[in-house]
Amino acid sequence: MASLTIRKLDDAVKTYLRLRSATNRRSVEEEVRVILRELIEGREEPLTPFAVPPAPSTAAASQRTGALPEASVTLIIGGGIAAYKSLDLIRRLKERRIEVRCVLTKAAQQFVTPLAVSALSHERVYTDLFDPQSEFDAGHIRLARDCDLIVVAPATADLMAKMANGHADDLASAILLATNRKVLLAPAMNPLMWSNAATRRNLALLQRDGAVLIGPNSGEMAEAGEAGVGRMSEAIEIANAAERLLRPPVPRPLAGKRVLITAGPTHEPIDPVRYIANRSSGKQGFAIAAAAQTAGAEVILVSGPVDLDDPPGVTVKHVESARQMLEQVQTALPADIAIFAAAVADWRVANEGEQKLKKTSAGMPPLQLVENPDILATISKLTDKRPPLVIGFAAETEHLIDNAKAKLARKGCDWIVANDVSPATGVMGGDRNTVHLLSRTNGAKDGEIAVDSWPVMTKEQVATELVAHIVRSATDKSLETAP
Ligand SMILES: Cc1cc2nc3c(=O)[nH]c(=O)nc-3n(C[C@H](O)[C@H](O)[C@H](O)COP(=O)(O)O)c2cc1C
Repeated sequence: MASLTIRKLDDAVKTYLRLRSATNRRSVEEEVRVILRELIEGREEPLTPFAVPPAPSTAAASQRTGALPEASVTLIIGGGIAAYKSLDLIRRLKERRIEVRCVLTKAAQQFVTPLAVSALSHERVYTDLFDPQSEFDAGHIRLARDCDLIVVAPATADLMAKMANGHADDLASAILLATNRKVLLAPAMNPLMWSNAATRRNLALLQRDGAVLIGPNSGEMAEAGEAGVGRMSEAIEIANAAERLLRPPVPRPLAGKRVLITAGPTHEPIDPVRYIANRSSGKQGFAIAAAAQTAGAEVILVSGPVDLDDPPGVTVKHVESARQMLEQVQTALPADIAIFAAAVADWRVANEGEQKLKKTSAGMPPLQLVENPDILATISKLTDKRPPLVIGFAAETEHLIDNAKAKLARKGCDWIVANDVSPATGVMGGDRNTVHLLSRTNGAKDGEIAVDSWPVMTKEQVATELVAHIVRSATDKSLETAP
């Protein structure tokens, strides 16, 4: 039996697993076991956008390369009057960046032409099981499996009957029998056909076999004077249902939580053109902001001067100095979680020049330094608006754990993310980070400090891991419990 190394999975899959396992309070390995068990038992929810489809497909390949389109559908058009709506459906799917390959049954061609379907889908249209051109490499099997989802619209009474009973005497039914993909049915038929006992039986069989249904709606029929349940769902409704199956919502375990994050360096002015700074790039704080936003939190990021794009969906307040950063942090309160990842300058120039300082024969002008406000300690020691979870960062160049432990006790925060920023590590400005998560257990100020050392990771991975710890902690009654 082959073994699975979680570490070697794609980053997106690992991110999904971490968030999902944190939400369900299971280890990542346990979560994988649960997913596999549910898949075998047929209970697993459709795969998320992070997840890779069960077998390689064009969509999966393009997802990995980042190229468009991101998903693909085989659309089977049955022989009903509603077939004209499937022309609009092709457009609706394509505008959702879903690639569409169409199969027309013989009867469908009485209602829409392969030419119209081909022109709209920008693909060749498939109509014949015994087409030598597409069957030289088992084309019906490729149409059945080389996609992420099969949509049948309109699903006629006849097509549903053939599918329920395992027929495979034309291209559409052969594809439906040969597929291992989810099938979305959009039935369309006369209300009496829909309510007929045979159709009800077929429908029950199909649903038991895992087919997903959209509609039918109730309303007027094409036949004059007839109304009832049997109208095919509108193209937009079917496209939305397909999209939900292809890209179900990402777990949002931090929904409803407000997360305040600081990032980057601060610039402390010497005069109007010079300043004291540090080498912080802001990458780690920005990655945490993006991960918290992905997990559903409302994120406010207070950033010093950095060369990074604002993370989408995050409210970013740009500041220069430590005092401005503190002011923006205080304005952003209350928050459920505060993460202080910024490298705030400890000192600023007390005698900041109003004009550019000039070289004089008297030599270098003396710079008097005064201590900057300590943002982490100030917020950690608040009595009224203190966020329930306050996380600091300790960037150290020596005695990392000892210094971080001392900082945790001194500042009064709950967790410290300690990282070695000595030049040899390349952490400052680099893309990777090696961190240790220190926490005060059970909120006891002078109690034990737990140290959790993580392997070398990208800053995005550190961010995801930290958010996963926060998710676990946030679901606890006390946010001060050790991660
Ligand atoms: C004008 C016309 C409209 C039809 N509309 C429908 C329909 O909406 N739903 C349906 O199940 N059958 C409808 N039928 C019957 C189907 O066309 C027929 O059962 C056909 O064999 C279905 O082929 P398929 O299995 O390729 O879909 C209609 C027939 C005609 C002549």
